[in-house]
Amino acid sequence: MSSVISALQQARLEYQPKLPKALRSANISVEFGANTVPATDVEAIRVLFPHTFGQPEAKITNSGAPLNTKPIKVGVVLSGGQAPGGHNVIAGLFDALKSANADSQLYGFLKGPGGIIKGKYKELTASIIDAYRNTGGFDIIMSGRDKIEKAEDLAACAANFAIMDLDGVVVIGGDDSNTNASVLAEYLKAKGSKTVVVGVPKTIDGDMKNEQIEASFGFDTAARTYSELIGNICRDAQSAVKYWHFIRLMGRAASHVALECALQTQPNITLISEEIQEKGTTLNEIVDYIASVIIKRADAGMNYGILLVPEGLPEFISDIKAMIEELSIILGRDEKYIDTLTDHSERLQYLSGQLSDHSARVYNTLPTDIQEVLLRRDSHGNVPLSQVETERLLIDLVSDKLNLLKERGEATNVKFSPLGHFFGYEGRCAFPSNFDADYCYSLGFAAAQLVRAGITGYTANVQNVTKPCDEWVAGGTPVTMMLNIEIRKGKPTPVIKKALVDLNDAPFQYFAANRDNWASNDEFLFPGPIQYFGPASVCDAPTKTLALEKGVA
Ligand code: FBP
Repeated sequence: MSSVISALQQARLEYQPKLPKALRSANISVEFGANTVPATDVEAIRVLFPHTFGQPEAKITNSGAPLNTKPIKVGVVLSGGQAPGGHNVIAGLFDALKSANADSQLYGFLKGPGGIIKGKYKELTASIIDAYRNTGGFDIIMSGRDKIEKAEDLAACAANFAIMDLDGVVVIGGDDSNTNASVLAEYLKAKGSKTVVVGVPKTIDGDMKNEQIEASFGFDTAARTYSELIGNICRDAQSAVKYWHFIRLMGRAASHVALECALQTQPNITLISEEIQEKGTTLNEIVDYIASVIIKRADAGMNYGILLVPEGLPEFISDIKAMIEELSIILGRDEKYIDTLTDHSERLQYLSGQLSDHSARVYNTLPTDIQEVLLRRDSHGNVPLSQVETERLLIDLVSDKLNLLKERGEATNVKFSPLGHFFGYEGRCAFPSNFDADYCYSLGFAAAQLVRAGITGYTANVQNVTKPCDEWVAGGTPVTMMLNIEIRKGKPTPVIKKALVDLNDAPFQYFAANRDNWASNDEFLFPGPIQYFGPASVCDAPTKTLALEKGVA
């Protein structure tokens, strides 16, 4: 850690995150609701999780039997992509454990789940925690994308927990990591281990949410960071009046980040992957739509504009999606052989023989760098879409289309000067907004109570988040309730269902009702940078997505 800190960091270290009322009491209890079932694949999930299937929802209250205050030992791990507020989850966890018993200890596993497998950890003391309060990043213990999957990995985790005498482990991660946490919970329970596993919903993508989990942490801050930059670019475009900005926004699958940024800045075009999938829109049709808006604006004297494209788009365009699915099956089957083909042209030739004719044609029309990225998978079987430059692909295709029209004597007013941007990593380690600072601290505090209660296979939740913090309600959602079976690396696998943008829900409906106006006219909004000090209407407002979802916009 740096020996000097900025003035803002100093000021933020002094910020005391707010907690829901029930978590502020000395007498904390955990009460249970009715047993739960997953929405689909009930029998398959019951068979895979015999010891943790169907557990009841948990609620943290002050009205039941107070939790035991004996000292406990807890481990914590940060898993997957960075999201603003991770340090506050750990601070909340630490403060909750210490306030229940000052002799309790917290250990941080280093560099993600790989640190659990290898038994690499450090004790997190007050002086370490204090330096990271309300800061962005995951650098306190670092993160990683290892998956605890193989039998030997699970056994290594169990052995390390036994050596460390851990009562619980808190896994801070997204849908894949919380799924992985539930597999570990099931394994440990089956082995009679005393170590319980509790997850915390993290991801800037905003796609780990459901009726219990109202938001994944980090989404608020990341979307506001991108929106500030997009607003600045809108103003620049209006000033220079000569560029079309194609901006790709992070978010592996769902378009929540792109939609939230659209609601915050009102750009001319925003592509929403879920709508494109629903309508079966082809790549050519997307290009035609973009070109039509560019021509309309040029005819009105506006040869500039802003387009937002979600990172996940390629997997939602029907022909590309089918091709990626075929590739996943081929990679699951022949990965070792494909790895021996060192030259891309050899891989291309091999894959062309394995893919269906249509998918081979789609694959062969993509630029080589995109073809190569589509052959990579992370440890959870996902394509690393943040490396696919979709904005450049769209710029090329739209340029070709406009040139063709010009050759035919059409689109005569168009002067197309495109610029590409990608906003992703810029937002993942921003100082957490007040919302994320409070929400994360509360999630960490809640996770500590679930561990103290000795329950396993749960993800911590904090609800009612569009209300003042006093009215927030914390609890735990059984992970098996959120699972469904999906094909990963060619095999049926239990995973938490990603929450995609719901086209019937208020955020998309609001966008859809306004987009034609935003396309033709400059209705840009300039949200400016995240504010940490000042009026609540500026500093503490929920995202537009949450406000519209909860009907408080
Ligand atoms: P998580 O799902 O782990 O939170 O990660 C989200 C994300 O930021 C995606 O938006 C992005 O596609 C991916 O991580 C990038 O991964 P990496 O950090 O490995 O480049």
